Amino acid sequence: MSNLSFDDRDGTIWHDGEMIPWRDSKVHVLSHALHYGSSVFEGIRVYGGKIFKLTEHSQRLVESAKILGFKIPYTVEEIDAATQKVVDENNIVDGYIRPVAWRGSEMMGVSAQKNTIHLAIAAWEWPSYFDPEARMKGIRLDNAIYRRPNPETAPSRSKAAGLYMICTLSKHAAEDRGYHDAMMLDWRGQVAEATGANIFFVNKAGEIHTPTPDCFLDGITRRTVIGLAKDRGYKIVERVIMPDELGDFEECFLTGTAAEVTPVAEIGEYKFTPGDISRQLVEDYDRTVRGQALEKVNVA
Ligand SMILES: Cc1ncc(COP(=O)(O)O)c(C=O)c1O
Repeated sequence: MSNLSFDDRDGTIWHDGEMIPWRDSKVHVLSHALHYGSSVFEGIRVYGGKIFKLTEHSQRLVESAKILGFKIPYTVEEIDAATQKVVDENNIVDGYIRPVAWRGSEMMGVSAQKNTIHLAIAAWEWPSYFDPEARMKGIRLDNAIYRRPNPETAPSRSKAAGLYMICTLSKHAAEDRGYHDAMMLDWRGQVAEATGANIFFVNKAGEIHTPTPDCFLDGITRRTVIGLAKDRGYKIVERVIMPDELGDFEECFLTGTAAEVTPVAEIGEYKFTPGDISRQLVEDYDRTVRGQALEKVNVA
């Protein structure tokens, strides 16, 4: 990826219905979203010029806004078409798309009933360097300093910018301590997810266990990988997982649009050995996103 700042690049951005030069896509400092966190966004990947699960992402964007109490003034079909236009006009082959919707500037206070809702969509080249051997080393996770909140405390089903405040703080603390990322618990002390990806574990019996997503995103990648694991005949168990159970698991991996399938070698005091099941899912996911048919394999 380019080291250029994200506000200073060539290309075009779809901004409130128009394709405009990249550097002209701006918001005013007195935007409600900047002061009160009233924005929602998506992260989408493009593989070989094809957008992966575009409509699911557009639907989630619209739903995220609805959960925050605002209506994006475009339909899912219009957002899909605008996203495709951004990818086409910027000649994105392997890249990342960032749609963002936010409350504008008409009212500046907690109440923002009359504020205009804006939508922008940007995309940039971001190749996924697929090297299974490098991935199989696994990443190291710290224990996060913040917990996922109770859904009665925060709108946890929305991909709302404000919910990432605790993710950035937790990720920075982990990076400062030499880790790649952090595993977050939820408000009850149950295992939840990483700061920008869902989490899975493999036990000694070869079953795949993952926390029930009742206070964090049920990721599009999470659901894709559950489907791939079921296709291979693996048993998937969605349940409450407590942190003191981590020693019972052999393998661990994260899933997410950006993370894809990323094996984990360490979470705090617990060690994992990325093994056959992680490798199969890393490879199956790669084949799926690149549109190749998954060869049917028999797994006992
Ligand atoms: C906090 C969080 N959890 C989970 C995910 C995984 O979601 P998806 O697979 O839809 O990208 C993401 C990424 O969007 C995320 O930011």
